[in-house]
Amino acid sequence: MADRFDVVVIGGGPGGYNCAIRLGQLGLSAACIDDRGRFGGTCLNVGCIPSKALLHASELYELARKDFARFGITGSPGLDLPAMMAQKQQAVDQLTRGVEFLFRKNKVEGIVGRAKITAPGRVQVKSQTGILEIFTDHVVIATGSEVTPLPGVKIDEQQIVSSTGALSLKSVPKRLLVVGAGIIGLELGSVWRRLGAEVTVVEFLDRIVPGIDAEVARQFHRLLERQGMRFRLSSKVTGVSKGKVLSVSVESATGGDAAVLDADIVLVAIGRRPYTGNLGLEDIGVKLNARGVVETDEHFRTNIPGVWAIGDVRPGAMLAHKAEDEAIACAERIAGRAGHVNYDAIPSVIYTYPEVAVVGKNEEELKQAGINYKVGKFPFTANPRAKTNLTTEGFVKIIADAASDRVLGVHMLGPDVGNMAGEASLAIEFSASSEDIARTSHAHPTLSEAIRQAAMNVDGWAMQM
Ligand code: FAD
Ligand code: NAI
Repeated sequence: MADRFDVVVIGGGPGGYNCAIRLGQLGLSAACIDDRGRFGGTCLNVGCIPSKALLHASELYELARKDFARFGITGSPGLDLPAMMAQKQQAVDQLTRGVEFLFRKNKVEGIVGRAKITAPGRVQVKSQTGILEIFTDHVVIATGSEVTPLPGVKIDEQQIVSSTGALSLKSVPKRLLVVGAGIIGLELGSVWRRLGAEVTVVEFLDRIVPGIDAEVARQFHRLLERQGMRFRLSSKVTGVSKGKVLSVSVESATGGDAAVLDADIVLVAIGRRPYTGNLGLEDIGVKLNARGVVETDEHFRTNIPGVWAIGDVRPGAMLAHKAEDEAIACAERIAGRAGHVNYDAIPSVIYTYPEVAVVGKNEEELKQAGINYKVGKFPFTANPRAKTNLTTEGFVKIIADAASDRVLGVHMLGPDVGNMAGEASLAIEFSASSEDIARTSHAHPTLSEAIRQAAMNVDGWAMQM
């Protein structure tokens, strides 16, 4: 193997592997180093992919048990949890092997080992076969993130778990207590509720999914409660004591009023933080902010020439496709091209039922920025396909600039809206007006017609309600 590359990418997640592939496409020699043993990072190994496999399987299980009768399909299926877990693992295995194939195709050197930057342009890799010294013109830091710990609560991945443990429980817990009503808490809480657990979610704030449009969050909260998920808002977990069951101390967020809740499993999901452990950043002087986030300029350059950063380790949303967008732009910058990311067009999706999909600014952000806007909404109760499918929960909301009609935000709660987020991103990327969407043909009968009707309603002419 060569010991010199144009670029060394540290981390083989969606940031790292996509960056290395794009570098290969642009004719640069690239190595991608990851310590996990399998490429794909958090996303493919213990994040997006396994969680979506369990969300899909558990949704089918719940549909089959509770909703099939409404379509005239009778009989109640059972649960084979090991088989469900095996299907999840198969998806992970296929996709992680796929990254190795893409590396070969694009002449990227995939290296399994633990990397440390010993000087600008110099990376040391500890692998099972020994220590490698690699020389390079550029280093891209794509080392991702790790679970934020909850003070006083030690994760053992058996009874007190992070998302990683919650993706591999051996049996369905009778009572699951989730700390944090964010994306992980609600997605994995939904998985285990559907499979039979009683799920209680303890959230510090007085609302769920902070950062999501408040109207969407309120209706989402009501629907999750209707499905049987319980919430304790404005509350915090102050400790968990282990015995035959777990005794979880919960207090009001402002203190006082302690209660003890019993649980079989506690899932800690209060956020993730950038991961830069033992990478040598302090030694070479790379600037981190107070929260340990690697600081860069808008073109992913750190303060040290030749050292770049992308993905969860740098500021912004911790999302696989945000890491991928930055990977492409960073590789292009290194190759002397003009890569760029439009952060306003990056969607965020919560893959529960119903799903939540948002792109662009929400009403709270626009009010705060003093921007005048108009809103068009359309409920799925009036969408023919949703009615036919018996999936009428939720709505689409489009926000457009009051003067120019340019679309500023699209906020959706409803069936399969994650797959509809692409249209919303494209509209924002192309600076579409709400009228552009309203006058674009949408196939009938599809759920996406709700977007068109909501766009019509920005100027009050939705035709199907
Ligand atoms: P990572 O994917 O974390 O990859 C970094 C890699 O670098 C890791 O493999 C790590 O082991 C390796 N590494 C770190 N330090 C070193 C070192 N010194 N030497 C060698 N290797 C090193 N996002 C979505 O967009 N959609 C989803 O549905 C979604 N679901 C998620 C579900 C869960 C349960 C979790 C936890 C996350 C989910 N995410 C989702 C977030 C997504 O996984 C991350 O945003 C994404 O993986 C970030 O990519 P990255 O390349 O920056 O880092
Ligand atoms: P999160 O930031 O989405 O939510 C954390 C929640 O915990 C917040 O509601 C917060 O107010 C609450 N919280 C914080 N401290 C608390 C405390 N002490 N007690 C009670 N509640 C507390 O973080 P989460 O769910 O851990 O996910 C991490 C990241 O992973 C997400 O931000 C997202 O970027 C990514 N992710 C993305 C997914 C997707 O795109 N579908 C799926 C899963 C994860």
